[in-house]
Amino acid sequence: MKDHFNRTIDYMRISITDRCNLRCRYCMPDGCEKVPMDRILTYEEIERICRIAARLGIRKIKITGGEPFVRLGCTDLIRTLKSIDGIDSVTVTTNGQILSRYMDDLKDAGVDGINISLDTLDPQRYAYITGGGSLDRVLEAIRLAAESGIPTKVNSLIQKGFNEDEICRLASFAFQEGVLVRFIELMPIGIADPSQGISNELILQMLLEEWPDLGKDSRPHGNGPAVYYSRPHTAGGIGFISAIHNVFCSSCNRIRLTSQGQIKPCLSYDTGIDLKPYLKGTDEELEAALREAILSKPVGHCFEEKRFGSEEHRLMSQIGG
Ligand code: 5AD
Ligand code: SF4
Repeated sequence: MKDHFNRTIDYMRISITDRCNLRCRYCMPDGCEKVPMDRILTYEEIERICRIAARLGIRKIKITGGEPFVRLGCTDLIRTLKSIDGIDSVTVTTNGQILSRYMDDLKDAGVDGINISLDTLDPQRYAYITGGGSLDRVLEAIRLAAESGIPTKVNSLIQKGFNEDEICRLASFAFQEGVLVRFIELMPIGIADPSQGISNELILQMLLEEWPDLGKDSRPHGNGPAVYYSRPHTAGGIGFISAIHNVFCSSCNRIRLTSQGQIKPCLSYDTGIDLKPYLKGTDEELEAALREAILSKPVGHCFEEKRFGSEEHRLMSQIGG
């Protein structure tokens, strides 16, 4: 359906858990508060919300977390959501640490895409930024995912003084492995410090100096606002998700469902509509609440007005990355 600003809303991102097997410093540092399991939506509730969302025109679903694969039955949920009439695509975002063991199931479930987070190719740095993760494991997962034929993207977040020296290395990795590596601008969500971020414009300049044949690639690669570049006769490519420096709110197509059942019309505000009470009612009541949530979607994010300080203070892991 269309929202108040004539944007077609056809994409819902669902955080199925706020838990994670990593502790990325900008997302979910050690010791952060966890939501009790009994406050998390059941898979049946998520399925029901998706069926109703599909009636309202949601066509694409992204499963996120926290880390979605730490919740048992994640691949079964994907299989179920894939079978809903009207849902064209179900994709998943993961840190890749335990992905390898689910690859066969995922393929069988018909997942339409896998996004894997990887900010550095240095094992020590990886362990530092993720609070103990294994680089080898995520690299193996990326390889298996790419080989499986499921469209695979790598998400990289560059921070000043931490991994800005790896921008070209990460891009080389994209060309070598034949995957898309996307640079995501750090957003002022939760505990992330926006002054640590780097603009994608700067990253593109660096890459163009290294690879002058890098050109805009207008083929569609996904559901979102990423802009892609590729090189002639070279596999893989580079994407840019520039939430801060290239505001794409006017073409935003998404809403978010948090693990606790709140619909967030915009990532940057902490407001939303809690679907929990409506889950006790009829499908029509639930549909009306969802419609209301879509209609309350604001015209744009508030990252800039707040001088890069957003209204959203919850952790990224609680609202879904
Ligand atoms: N800004 C942008 N991206 C973020 N992620 C986590 N926190 C932030 C933030 N503040 C990203 C991770 C991962 C994805 C799930 O969300 O880097 O790739
Ligand atoms: Fe976990 Fe992803 Fe957050 Fe890292 S960014 S702590 S992998 S949810």
